[in-house]
Amino acid sequence: MQQKIIILDFGSQTTQLIGRRVRELDTFCEILPYNKFPVADPSVIGVILSGSPFSVHDPKAFQVDLSQFVGRVPVLGICYGAQYIAHTGGGRVEPADSREYGRAHLAMVDTQNPLFRGFDLDSQVWMSHGDTITALPENCHTIASTSDVQYAAYASDSVPLWAVQFHPEVYHTLQGKQLLKNFVIDICGSQQQWSPSSFVESTVAQLKEQLGNDRVILGLSGGVDSSVCAVLLNRAIGDRLTCIFVDHGMLRKNEFQKVMDAYQGLGLNVIGVDASEKFFADLAGVTDPEQKRKIIGRDFVEVFNAEAHKITDARWLAQGTIYPDRIESLSITGMTIKSHHNVGGLPKEMHLKLCEPLQWLFKDEVRRVGRELGMPDRLIKRHPFPGPGLAVRILGDITRERVRILQDADDIYIESMLNYICDDGECLYDKVWQAGAVLLSTVRSVGVMGDERTYEHPVALRAVTSTDAMTADWAHLPYDFMARVSNEIINKVRGVNRVCYDISSKPPATIEWE
Ligand code: XMP
Repeated sequence: MQQKIIILDFGSQTTQLIGRRVRELDTFCEILPYNKFPVADPSVIGVILSGSPFSVHDPKAFQVDLSQFVGRVPVLGICYGAQYIAHTGGGRVEPADSREYGRAHLAMVDTQNPLFRGFDLDSQVWMSHGDTITALPENCHTIASTSDVQYAAYASDSVPLWAVQFHPEVYHTLQGKQLLKNFVIDICGSQQQWSPSSFVESTVAQLKEQLGNDRVILGLSGGVDSSVCAVLLNRAIGDRLTCIFVDHGMLRKNEFQKVMDAYQGLGLNVIGVDASEKFFADLAGVTDPEQKRKIIGRDFVEVFNAEAHKITDARWLAQGTIYPDRIESLSITGMTIKSHHNVGGLPKEMHLKLCEPLQWLFKDEVRRVGRELGMPDRLIKRHPFPGPGLAVRILGDITRERVRILQDADDIYIESMLNYICDDGECLYDKVWQAGAVLLSTVRSVGVMGDERTYEHPVALRAVTSTDAMTADWAHLPYDFMARVSNEIINKVRGVNRVCYDISSKPPATIEWE
């Protein structure tokens, strides 16, 4: 049985980070809404309560019945979690005199306590709360304080229960990883069995069992998630997996052929469908970004379904859905920032069952699994690319000529990034989360080439750093690189006479322009 830690989500921005930290300890974990604790699951070895945007005194504050797990398995409360345990256990939580945000240092820490083993006095922790605990719950004692916060951490004398008002999951709590390691491994007794190779082994076995001799269809996008999903399924059921890769005509330059070749090299059974005529016809004259997205989404489903219908004995539809997609859709605070982009969709009348083997993985874990499966590095390290492709990077209406211009500019930009080797030996492409060119086809400006006046479009270059695309910062690309790319684009791409660099972060901007 696979051991697991349950993280109960009270709506904090950093809940996913707790999950990542636990996984980094090679321990499986599930993030569940605060009120969905799996009472009957014997594989749970510990529980972590997350922070929350609410105060425990807020009438809307999330309530949970702690007796479901306290006293049964070790429990760690973080921030709101710590305050909730105090509040409901006979302690007191009050608004802090000054809101406690940012860096603090431990003025007292009980390093004899298993939670703080290996900690240094004065260790930096990160606080982020408006309330503070002013009296501990029954049978509890302080195990850490800062100069401002007396009960920065406490532990129970009677049951395996710990609580910290700071956030061990964030980078700025410098020994946060040590604290979580102490909890997950020493206190909960994790045997650290989760690894990419154990994942591949157990998932392949499960898929064989689940799918038997059934045929499975999978929509490939060229991206990492669907590709890893395909290779994993191929390992389990071989040729009974049929992949469909739709070319809507708005992929990167030569992308369709390159990706088809890569897939065939991996031994996948792939049907490539060139549907670009249909997409260009339906998009003619459409300028509104949302309408473009709708048309592409609809056409995509139509083309995909028509292909899927030809595979008459299919029983399953596989998708490369990953964990962050699922957590977002479970979001309990209702503040979903990124809308769902999963293209495809289930052809209902085919009565296909859904198979999502990557549904518990974070993006970096998907990449590790891909490596474990022996996939080429370039495929694994590919930047994310939007389903509607270059259509959301061309302002105004979309024509074949505009796509051609953008493909040429984008190709120069991306190839240059791959070829630019930084001081540490890594290429520039691998240093950024995502990069691409945008054609500002609704804008024209004057230029001069030779003795000729030009009146053409600018191209905007975009490159961002991010860990999950929810927030992003513009990448600080080297000036010599930008100078070279700008020159090459303007000299080689007919129709472009100016290059700009987008220096907007997300929020308030988004990564894509449309
Ligand atoms: P935004 O523009 O919302 O993008 O900041 C966040 C991330 O999502 C990608 N993206 C998409 N991916 N279908 C996709 O598969 C889409 O319709 C889509 N729109 C945006 C974007 O490239 C970035 O990585």
